Amino acid sequence: MPRIAAILALALALGTMSALADDPKPPAPMPAPSWKNGQRITREYCVSCHNARTAPTFAKLAQNPKLTDAYLLKGLTDGIPVMHGNLKMPPTPLLQNEVRDVVAYIGALRD
Ligand code: HEC
Repeated sequence: MPRIAAILALALALGTMSALADDPKPPAPMPAPSWKNGQRITREYCVSCHNARTAPTFAKLAQNPKLTDAYLLKGLTDGIPVMHGNLKMPPTPLLQNEVRDVVAYIGALRD
């Protein structure tokens, strides 16, 4: 009865496939922003300039009312065209979730 076995195997395979199609795994949710990870990222990528000598510290930047979450999200994604002497704030090499973490960190520093 190899034919029946083959048909059964096929039915089983199709059953499994349709079960997969009917029940797709939901996409993994974006984790909530982590200010701690944002702090780690700024230590790695930003404080070489944002150290009060070359550019303002994040504690200082956080008190600037212009730097809202929306401004920071856009600016850190697209690059911030700020001039300071002959330095320009470079576009950041951050992934979108890292930008969210940095924005959460700056938010945590606001008064
Ligand atoms: C090569 C040096 C350098 C690095 C690295 C750097 N910045 Fe800057 N950043 C600057 C300078 C210069 C300014 C302008 C400061 C001023 O206006 O006095 C600035 C300004 C900013 C501002 C204020 C923008 C505004 O519109 O006023 C934010 C926010 C900022 N940086 C975030 C970051 C973050 C986050 C990182 C790391 C991912 C980073 N920077 C890395 C040099 C740098």
